[in-house]
Amino acid sequence: TVLPPHPDDLGGIPVVDVSHTPARTPLLRTMALARQHGPAFIQRQHGRDTLFVSSLELVTELSDERRFGKAIGPALENVREFTHDGLFTAYHDEPNWAKAHDILMPAFALGSMRTYHPVMLRVARRLIASWDRRCADGIPVDVPDDMTRMTLDTIGLAGFGFDFGSFDRDEPHPFVGALVRCLHWAMTKLSRDPELDHTETDAAFRADAAYLASVVDEVIAARTAPDAPAPDGEDLLGLMLGATHPSDGTTLDLANIRDQVITFLIAGHETTSGTLSFALHNLLKHPSALRRVQREVDELWGDEPDPEPTFEDIGRLHHTRQALNETLRLFPPAPGFSRRALVDTELGGVPLRAGQWATVLTPMLHRDPAWGDNPELFDPSRFSPEAEAARSPHAFKPFGTGERACIGRQFALHEATMMLAMLVHRYRLLDHADYTMDLKQALTIKPDGFTLGLAPRTPAD
Ligand code: HEM
Repeated sequence: TVLPPHPDDLGGIPVVDVSHTPARTPLLRTMALARQHGPAFIQRQHGRDTLFVSSLELVTELSDERRFGKAIGPALENVREFTHDGLFTAYHDEPNWAKAHDILMPAFALGSMRTYHPVMLRVARRLIASWDRRCADGIPVDVPDDMTRMTLDTIGLAGFGFDFGSFDRDEPHPFVGALVRCLHWAMTKLSRDPELDHTETDAAFRADAAYLASVVDEVIAARTAPDAPAPDGEDLLGLMLGATHPSDGTTLDLANIRDQVITFLIAGHETTSGTLSFALHNLLKHPSALRRVQREVDELWGDEPDPEPTFEDIGRLHHTRQALNETLRLFPPAPGFSRRALVDTELGGVPLRAGQWATVLTPMLHRDPAWGDNPELFDPSRFSPEAEAARSPHAFKPFGTGERACIGRQFALHEATMMLAMLVHRYRLLDHADYTMDLKQALTIKPDGFTLGLAPRTPAD
């Protein structure tokens, strides 16, 4: 259903062929091209064209839901090979998208975070217990690895009552290995040389995808067995198995529930762990912003060594949330999303036919002149209520846009705000290796090799 853009129709838009310039971090190459060629250009790779768009003006147009909707671009087409019509990769007109969306929306409303709060806190304490041991031994922590352990255990438990037990393992759970390899397959397939033979890679992918499905089927079977113990409260799986659609009374079928579980595990952990890793990096490098966040958590929890954050506390952490938002601006972990024309229309005055699509290059939108003269500067006050009110809502899109925007946004922000606040309350952050940012890109981005020294905070800190 998605046609590539037709350069001939997009008169005047630069076309850049990158087929023969391999890049370790394709995102950085695309950002450099945007800086060089401006807010709309076509990147060509092995004959496939992607129209990248990055100005507030053009993204405002693409956010018009009457003319544009979500496109399943080539990267998501590849992910779709193992998540099918799960929420993230469903075509908009597939019946299971609206059905799952309607059934699951209430589970992701802000108020529902009250249900997940105790599990989020329990897993946050797993990370703290592990970091306390490192801190006592004077060993730095691997931030992205541990954040990924934390977010995976949280979505596993809150979503499906499944405990990955990531902090008790040196190597990730085999499910995670298979998931990461499937995502890697989906991403590398994009830049494949069509002349080479990929049979073996594809067979390994199919074996991994089958393993993912079999693990999830076991979790579902354990839950639906006649003698299955009742879960400790409602979770996403319970909701999907039990809830009927508000209008037609039907439930999701088991194959679709499996696809949703895999979808939530993908969508729900790498992004939030990337956000937390970048946020710690930003606070480490900006002591005045760190002090502001520490002052806020100290006002709430004093010097209580083991505070018991309540659900309501998380809504009071305004400066922590601003630091996270500013992190999502500079390093949106899902660095793009695609939009297709629903009707014959125009983009920036250039005609687009129905079905043609463009990808929003989110990190460059987040550096549009609308953000002022110094967009590279980490400044959480950009998210003060006054500054937000004065800015277009289309200038900030880390969670995508419209009906197909991220359903897990409140989940991610609640989890990340609590974790970040607990960490800066408890530890001094030490830049023991004088880390400089090195992006690692898969489906999402994270700071590669980012390790952090820790020391306990004393009242004087
Ligand atoms: C969709 C980002 C956390 C579940 C999206 C999209 C973005 C995004 C950009 C839209 C993609 C597109 O238009 O193609 C993020 C970021 C997160 C985050 C930056 C963390 C900071 C989560 C969490 C969950 C989740 C925690 C689940 C618990 C989903 C799902 C969709 C989605 C299911 C597809 C929604 C639909 O199309 O109906 N996310 N996400 N995300 N996200 Fe997230």
